[in-house]
Amino acid sequence: MSTNPFLRGNMAPVDTETTAYDLRVTGTLPDELSGRYVRNGPNPIRPPDDATYHWFTGTGMVHGVRLRDGRAEWYRNRWVRSADVASVLGEEAPTNPWPAEHMSFSANTNVVRHAGRMLACVEAGAPPVELDDELNTVCISNLDGTLPYAFSAHPKRDATTDELHVMTYWWGWGNQVQYLVVGADGRVRAVRDIALPGGPMIHDIAITERFALVFDLPVLFDLESAMKGASLPYRWFEDYSPRIGLVPRDDGSCANDDIRWFDIDPCYIFHPLNAYDDIDGHGDDIVVLDAVRHPKMFDRERRGPSEGTPRLDRWTFNLSRRSVRSETLDDYPQEFPRIREDLVGRQHRFGYSAGLGSQLAQDTLCRIDLATGAVTRRRDSDVMGYGEPVFVARDGGAAEDDGWVIALRHNRETDLSDLCVFDAAAIDADPVAVVHLPARVPNGFHGNWMPDE
Ligand SMILES: [Fe+2]
Repeated sequence: MSTNPFLRGNMAPVDTETTAYDLRVTGTLPDELSGRYVRNGPNPIRPPDDATYHWFTGTGMVHGVRLRDGRAEWYRNRWVRSADVASVLGEEAPTNPWPAEHMSFSANTNVVRHAGRMLACVEAGAPPVELDDELNTVCISNLDGTLPYAFSAHPKRDATTDELHVMTYWWGWGNQVQYLVVGADGRVRAVRDIALPGGPMIHDIAITERFALVFDLPVLFDLESAMKGASLPYRWFEDYSPRIGLVPRDDGSCANDDIRWFDIDPCYIFHPLNAYDDIDGHGDDIVVLDAVRHPKMFDRERRGPSEGTPRLDRWTFNLSRRSVRSETLDDYPQEFPRIREDLVGRQHRFGYSAGLGSQLAQDTLCRIDLATGAVTRRRDSDVMGYGEPVFVARDGGAAEDDGWVIALRHNRETDLSDLCVFDAAAIDADPVAVVHLPARVPNGFHGNWMPDE
């Protein structure tokens, strides 16, 4: 029995790679859902050390479900290969264009599709890993030789340009992060180094039509922890001034190329819901950021997150008056906020997240209507854990919430998982379809719907 509370009982190092065909489906899968749902997460390939293991650092494992013509054609899960993973599995190391001294890690946090490639990705200096359509590792990627060094688990796609905006960090840079733009061709086309007072862990980025937001918050690289061999050498620094910077996008319309910094109250942000430019009722130029706010991170407990309840907050940055205002949109504990992806950087109305109802277990699906303030929560039973909800728009649907919400659901009693498809406007109703998977998908991080191209 693990004594590490953050293994959460369902992230065991015993999973094997599985492939299963023609899955049982309850309900009716919409015909137009033709593609793959793929999700990444940490899944240690060898038994971890309870005392020191941080679950953020487990071996990446991708899980995928192939949908086509109203059928669930397959489920499969594959470890994301690094040299270390290949060695454990008795395989040849994957092709790797980086020098031997470059950080190597089995990318475990997200999986995205861009420029015709599926990329498993992670932050903190390790490169993305290219996967094929059946989730096998193709190679360690350097984006055709254009990636300077580090990537991120959370590249944000601007749907109007089909480019990715990425905030990257790596301890070896010292007090600096790097902002990248990856073109629609999959090659990095813009790089900007950003000097900071410390070396923060920056998990995600938000963008607007004019700005990329940099979260300069008090979780910093800690050399002492690194020297002691901590698997996650970052901790809370009480005296570090938290702030958010608005970095002009290199293709934006902002004439002033200085970063606009706004001091905020201490907190930590892993995930924004979204951000956008606006004009307020006084005619002031504002930027709105909605994000899940943690009161602290990695202070008393380095194996967390476990430093208080995460909630959905809004920050309004007033560029005209150089002021910032914050408010709480929903105080229900939650994480993994998502919106309709083609609205990234533009005003959104609906948000979806994984609610942390009982003892901060992921047991609730949440939907918020920011126009009315109405929230909908779906909680089936204490044994059902929900993963990150992903919104998929219906072809030709005009309304923002015309589409589906796809989420993995793990039954702690049967130890099996489902892929659930909900009507996005009615997540409290029965799912439109449930794909019964032949395996457990442990709690993990991020997934995406990848329609057939
Ligand atoms: Fe994340």
